[in-house]
Amino acid sequence: MPDLSGKVAIVTGCASGIGAAAVRRFVADGAKVLGTDMDETRGAALCAETGALFAVQDVSDRAAWPQIVARAVEAFGRLDILINNAGMVSGAGIGDLDDDAMFAAWDRVLAVNLTGTMAGCRAAIAAMRDNPGGAKGAIINIASTTAIAPLPTDVGYSASKGAVRVLSKSVATWCAQHQLDIRCNTVIPGATMTGILEAAEQQTPGLIAAVAKTSPLNRLADPAETAAAIAFLASDECPFMTGAEMVVDGAALSIHPGF
Ligand SMILES: NC(=O)c1ccc[n+]([C@@H]2O[C@H](COP(=O)([O-])OP(=O)(O)OC[C@H]3O[C@@H](n4cnc5c(N)ncnc54)[C@H](O)[C@@H]3O)[C@@H](O)[C@H]2O)c1
Repeated sequence: MPDLSGKVAIVTGCASGIGAAAVRRFVADGAKVLGTDMDETRGAALCAETGALFAVQDVSDRAAWPQIVARAVEAFGRLDILINNAGMVSGAGIGDLDDDAMFAAWDRVLAVNLTGTMAGCRAAIAAMRDNPGGAKGAIINIASTTAIAPLPTDVGYSASKGAVRVLSKSVATWCAQHQLDIRCNTVIPGATMTGILEAAEQQTPGLIAAVAKTSPLNRLADPAETAAAIAFLASDECPFMTGAEMVVDGAALSIHPGF
């Protein structure tokens, strides 16, 4: 089990699903955690239950990011880990909506999934550079298998997650070239039983059953299984892993589509 004792982490989208599982896992592994979410009721409850701090945050509000990071540093004295996990679907294929609705959906999903992730990286690096004892940190951005095999039913979600993969590599290499011991990696979850999939099911009935079958394991992931990969990348177990991707998809992308 990765040792996160004494490490300080921010987990966005902590109220539900993978974010909630990451908060539970990080606290269990010894980290001090600031969870954030737009959903104050559920986010605060999860954090109170686990012993984490909570802050309300819309990750797309870039001006608020430095304050969120400052909150963790004020409370715990440093920032070691950022998990850019908050995300949403938009539920529209390229020709599905009229222009006004299409571009509104596109702008929002990119603002949350992509700009929110970029703004988080930027604010976290500024704090991690100034950590007591020298620059050190680990950022994990949550993409999706739709970044590799996109959904025709959600162009904005798929495009935003594709961009997150490349964003992570640019961040990783910038930090390395600036001699900063700050790693940035991407976790690529496959179908995981969480709220986002329930929302997608409402827009595309039958989606959950269909995606469960895409894994040769013939099931969805439990969010705790994804959180385990996140905890490994956040720990000091893998200092040469940066700019890397960890796929947690039950081999869904590893099998020929005919089998
Ligand atoms: N569940 C899956 O099958 C799956 C697969 C691949 C990738 N992912 C990714 O995993 C991440 C977590 O999703 P999940 O499956 O746990 O979904 P979820 O819906 O259970 O949780 C997402 C959380 O993010 C919060 N959130 C949404 N927009 C926000 C914003 N603008 N600011 C702050 N918080 C916001 C929600 O309130 C919610 O608590 C997302 O980035 C998602 O795209 C999920």
